[in-house]
Amino acid sequence: MAALKARGRVIRMAQIQQATPDAIRTAAEMLGSGQLVAFPTETVYGLGAAARNAEAVGKIYDLKGRPRGHPLIVHLPDASHVNVWASDVPYVVNELTEQFWPGPLTLVLTRSVAVPSEVTGGQQTVALRMPAHPTAMQLLKVFGDGVAAPSANLFGHVSPTTAQHVAADFPGPLLVLDGGPCTVGLESTILDVSQLAHGQPARLLRPGGVPVSRLEDVLGSKVLLPGQWGAAAPRVPGSLQSHYAAKAPARLVKAEELRSLTRSGRLSSDIGVMAFGPRPPGHAGQWLQMHDEPERYARHLYACLRQIDATQPREILIEEVPPGTAWDAVRDRLKRATS
Ligand code: TXA
Ligand code: MG
Repeated sequence: MAALKARGRVIRMAQIQQATPDAIRTAAEMLGSGQLVAFPTETVYGLGAAARNAEAVGKIYDLKGRPRGHPLIVHLPDASHVNVWASDVPYVVNELTEQFWPGPLTLVLTRSVAVPSEVTGGQQTVALRMPAHPTAMQLLKVFGDGVAAPSANLFGHVSPTTAQHVAADFPGPLLVLDGGPCTVGLESTILDVSQLAHGQPARLLRPGGVPVSRLEDVLGSKVLLPGQWGAAAPRVPGSLQSHYAAKAPARLVKAEELRSLTRSGRLSSDIGVMAFGPRPPGHAGQWLQMHDEPERYARHLYACLRQIDATQPREILIEEVPPGTAWDAVRDRLKRATS
């Protein structure tokens, strides 16, 4: 990637900057001139481009190594922008945005003519979200328009929850606004409401920070979960393959298997472990003790995966998480990280 320009200065490598008002203004100007900017959201860091600028959006795919058919989420400064990017917006969307925006909920709607097809991967729908992180909100407000942004990681890699994670994936020229570690830690819940107008139910495309039960309360109807879509399955590129993956092979294990490996001495020091219990005496390898509460587990999951991967283990063993819907989003990401 060629060097970037910010207020006359040339940026030749990843540059992490505290998200001061001045840095945010610079970032907004860079978006306006068709450059990419990485910024924090409450879920994960995003790699942003002006959503109306097809050429700028193209740079996201190039930098990430992401296939062009994988659509991007457009981040909005506030809910009044929904009608700019979407058409045939069902009435219930007002209630959803009132309840959950700003926050970790992405809504898939019928696209408007304002959306370049580069953003939607050629689909007739567009994904919209208003993030809750103060830096993201200020950046969007100063920029004043939609910002297309996927997670700021190389395609297929673990999503970034700190500015340092972003810089590690993209050492080349890139401005990274630093807003501290993300508080949610997993990508947004994606709800497809584009078919409501045709009498079809809303569909959950990706579990995340907003539980399905809360969505159903607002919708007043059941949400179809992945696997229940039937013939009307929407296309959600990037949701099926192995994703969010560490470089080392990772595998889910039951608590009993972990215990028996430890007891029999077969847990060699080149195996990394993420488990609920404390490190067993005698195990010399990486052992990360995870939180037993789903929100806190989620907040630290990607940082833990990156930390353990950095020690170049032969294999990563991850203890299965408890049953129950509270763990759905975490379970979904673990399944992808280990497939
Ligand atoms: O929390 C998040 O959602 C983060 C932050 C940065 O906002 N973004 C994020 O973007 O996770 P990305 O690109 O890594 O994941 C977006 C997912 C992809 O699986 C994509 O296929 C799906 O959203 N998606 C985007 N537009 C869609 C559409 N029109 N229809 C169906 N799926 C769509
Ligand atoms: Mg992603």
